[in-house]
Amino acid sequence: MLSNTGIAQQCVVSLLLLFSLYDGANGQGFKVDLNSPKSIVEASKVLAKKLISYYKGDQPGEILGILPGPPDSGRGPYYWWQAGAMWQTYVDYWHYTRDDTYVKQTTDAILFQADPPKNAFMPVNWTSSLGNDDQAFWGMAAMLAAEVKFPDPPADKPGWLELAMATFNTQAAPDRHDELCNGGLHWQISQYNIGYDYKNTIANGCFFNLGARLARYTGNQSYADWAEKTWDWLIGVQYIDEDWNVYDGGYGQRDNCTVVTKSQFSANVAVLIHGAAMMYSHTKEEKWKKAVDGLLDRCIEFFFPKGIMIERPCELEDEMKCNVDQHSFKGYMHRALATVAQLAPHTHDKIYKVLKTSTEAAVKSCLPDGTCGFRWTLGKYDGDVDRGPAGQAMSALAAVMTMLIDVDPSKIGAPVTADTGGTSKGNPDAGSLPGPFDPPPPLTGKDRAGAGVITTVILGTLIGALVWMGLDLWEGEK
Ligand SMILES: *[C@@H]1O[C@H](CO)[C@@H](O)[C@H](O)[C@H]1NC(C)=O
Ligand SMILES: *[C@@H]1O[C@H](CO)[C@@H](O)[C@H](O)[C@H]1NC(C)=O
Ligand SMILES: *[C@@H]1O[C@H](CO)[C@@H](O)[C@H](O)[C@H]1NC(C)=O
Repeated sequence: MLSNTGIAQQCVVSLLLLFSLYDGANGQGFKVDLNSPKSIVEASKVLAKKLISYYKGDQPGEILGILPGPPDSGRGPYYWWQAGAMWQTYVDYWHYTRDDTYVKQTTDAILFQADPPKNAFMPVNWTSSLGNDDQAFWGMAAMLAAEVKFPDPPADKPGWLELAMATFNTQAAPDRHDELCNGGLHWQISQYNIGYDYKNTIANGCFFNLGARLARYTGNQSYADWAEKTWDWLIGVQYIDEDWNVYDGGYGQRDNCTVVTKSQFSANVAVLIHGAAMMYSHTKEEKWKKAVDGLLDRCIEFFFPKGIMIERPCELEDEMKCNVDQHSFKGYMHRALATVAQLAPHTHDKIYKVLKTSTEAAVKSCLPDGTCGFRWTLGKYDGDVDRGPAGQAMSALAAVMTMLIDVDPSKIGAPVTADTGGTSKGNPDAGSLPGPFDPPPPLTGKDRAGAGVITTVILGTLIGALVWMGLDLWEGEK
């Protein structure tokens, strides 16, 4: 995923948008009655159908599971991770609406990009942009599938829980951790990637989120320990401050994480508050209740200033600076808060109130066919397709479908655990097979004869990889 460093370094051509295309206020817009479960489901169906039209991965010649991209391939604007977020949205879509139209596509996509046999969402194709957060967005799709009892994969395939565990295990492994800044994950997985030195909130927030959810689902204390350690680290380096502002990150080698990049993006808050609510639901500890309440109040104040969500650092009054990634962030916030309302019921009324006003605005950003805009405060479609439209579509769908938490609470259950009906197949050793970042195994005596050949092959591969990664530099977004 891109991070704030992206914005600083990116050559953004800022355009003043022309807003006069469509007028949602004169009855031409997208219609839904947010007080009617039936209407919400029907509207969600239209939005889900529109969103899937941006996915080409199951067509001939395309790559299964991903949205058109990545940018440097010339195939489209989306990085690999964003499809992981899209499948999360479809898992939740099934959970909220029970419409199974996309179950097979979702399952096929997640299982393919899990990249068997390692199954930890680290396909070698995407190495050059593979951050811990990118990997985790796919791992969180699998975790969500376990939590909402999404139909299991075929018996000969790994279970949803196993895929989430594989993701977590690779991130908890010693090779992802060092002493810089007293701990914390680097943003990128490969030290050869640009942005490796950045130790940021999203990478650590996603790891915290997965740990918290695995702890709650399995009851295994190792996950809870990792989650708490990661949370405490985020507080320690002051990426989360005493007023519950959530900042973007800092550099390790360069300044030991003491110079904090202060932009506040909603995706960081979404994974943190969702993870904190999981820890609260799991432990009932005051520490996590305080975290949920503190993050929630600050988040509503900051991201929903008039009851309508705005992506504050880049969605400015007179200028749109949000990139393709950031166009999808509102969806994560709406989905995360809806789940927080279920995990920490005392937050329900406060959350539902703000999600509703925000969703009413989101709906006004859509055209009758379900094409949606990014600027929900406009009261009409913004015509901003250049940096999407899949992110805008995910966000609007997330906003509309999660309205069902209030209208029909008995039907939309909170995420389950192994003790409350969850049956997904796990595997504590998942993710331990070799992957693209592992050194070659040590040579034994009888291997030595072939060692020269192997060295040549490895060297060739390394040089190839460096050239290939080098080609990626132009992005300037890392
Ligand atoms: C990797 O890229 C190749 C070539 O485009 C493609 O055939 C393959 O399906 C991709 N694998 C994954 C896991 O994306
Ligand atoms: C780096 O920062 C951590 C706190 O985040 C501190 O404990 C550690 O001593 C610092 N290391 C150096 C070399 O300054
Ligand atoms: C708990 O999780 C840890 C970390 O993944 C794993 O090593 C251990 O085997 C698990 N314990 C049980 C009882 O599953």
